[in-house]
Parts: sequence; C-alpha cells; structure tokens
Amino acid sequence: MSDMREFAKATAVRAGQLLKEGLSRPREIRYKGEIDLVTEMDVASEKLIIEAIKANYPDHAILAEESGRSDQPDSPYRWVIDPLDGTTNYAHGLPIFCVSIGLEKDGEPLLGVIYSPMLDELYEAEVGQGAYLNGQRLHVSKTTELGKALLVTGFPYDVKVKIDNVVHFTNFLLASQAVRRLGSAAMDLAWVAAGRFDGFWEPRLAPWDLCAGTVLVREAGGHITNYVGETFSIYEKEILASNGHLHQPMVEVLTRPAVASQA
Ligand code: IPD
Ligand code: CA
Ligand code: CA
Repeated sequence: MSDMREFAKATAVRAGQLLKEGLSRPREIRYKGEIDLVTEMDVASEKLIIEAIKANYPDHAILAEESGRSDQPDSPYRWVIDPLDGTTNYAHGLPIFCVSIGLEKDGEPLLGVIYSPMLDELYEAEVGQGAYLNGQRLHVSKTTELGKALLVTGFPYDVKVKIDNVVHFTNFLLASQAVRRLGSAAMDLAWVAAGRFDGFWEPRLAPWDLCAGTVLVREAGGHITNYVGETFSIYEKEILASNGHLHQPMVEVLTRPAVASQA
C-alpha cells in the first residue's frame, strides 16, 4: 500500500472530523448561484487538505473545488479534492455528506479515498489493489434485473434550466425497483462500490465529485462509462456507474428518445 494512500486516508479522516464538529454549530452560508451554496466548513476542510498536501507533497499538482487548480508541470501526480461533497445536506444539518480525495497519475485516477464522518466509514481503493470499507474488501451487487435494482442519481445546480435528468429520473423510476436522490455524488459512487446501490447516473458533475469514487467502483468490480456506453473520463459531463450486469439495460434507458414515459 502506497504512502500516498495512507496519507489520503489520514487526511480525509481529519477533514471529516472537522466537518462533523462543525455540523452542530450555526453555519455561515454563501450562495455561488441561485441554489448552489458554500459554507465556511467547505473552505475550512479544503484548507486543511491543501495544507497537508503542500506539507507532504509540495511538488504535486492540485485541483480542488473551492480554490481551483495549482499546476505542477513536472509532476505526474494531481490531487483532485472535494472537501465537502453534499454541501446542501450539510447546510441543512442532514448527515449525508463526505470528504472525497482522489489522486491522478499522468491524468488517470490512481487512488481514491472517501470518508463519511457521520457513519465513520472510510472507503479506499487503488488501481489493481481492490476497494475496501473500513478494511473490509468491497464488491458491487449481483443484481441482474433492472426491475429489482435500487438506483441513485443527482440533479445538478442548473436543474431549473436544464431538465434533462428529470426525464431520465422518470424513466428509471418506472423501470427499476426504486430510485434515490441523496445529494452527494461521491457517497453515491462509494455505495455502488459497496453494493448498496446497483447503479448511478448523473449529468454535469465535476472532476472532484468523481475522481475518488470512480476508482472505488472499478476496484469493486463495477463498470463506468458515459451515457452511451463509451469510455468515461472524470472531465466529461456524464457518468453511468453500475454493477456491470445492469450496464446495458441502463444505457438503453439513458438513450431512449427524450420523452418521459406516461404511467
Ligand atoms: C454536489 C453533490 C450532489 C450533486 C451535485 C454536486 P457539492 O456536490 O455531489 O449530489 O447532485 O451535482 O455538485 O456541491 O455538494 O460538493
Ligand atoms: Ca461535490
Ligand atoms: Ca463540495
């Protein structure tokens, strides 16, 4: 196991504890858009993580949600960080949120750590080395029928102007056992890796929502593509992650003509 992985785990736990402590205090909320908000704890968590990276890996590049990019052209490594995924939940005191720390090497996700401080669940995965939850090996679910699947999705902050996912939500609701919307894409991916969800799709996510979680899903035996079943990148705007068995049936729903089914 790499030192960088141990570092990522320790740092995610420290940042998560900070978020947990902050949850019981009044929160300062600032709006980045009509419904896109940020709390002082997003910023505090990111500061903790970036200071730790700079102290331990000063030559590595960083891409972080609140402070953007710091490039290091000579290094193959780049940390991709969401210091608090699930900010809207957090601002309302809803305990579904996490810290997500991914690491890319030569532009490809190499390792991912996601920590849920309220559940004390630490997810970790490194390419070729499996995915783990609190030290226990993870495997995606074995569900083979879409009608028996529990799916999850999310709605981007531009949901009120681009309603594409409302159509997909309706179609999956009619095709699956049930669909959830939890408000943390990183948690959604960790829970696909853990077999709690059978599949996840979402448009217009950012690399920091995706980097760590994609390593977890792949290392747990899952499959990730774009909506049409082609090669996925964390820099592209749509993701379909599944247990593999449900991938093609989910592609079929996502590529249906854009008319919501009528019940
Ligand atoms: C958001 C969450 C949410 C997803 C949004 C993301 P944030 O991240 O992951 O589940 O639907 O698209 O932006 O703002 O809580 O870090
Ligand atoms: Ca996020
Ligand atoms: Ca965030």
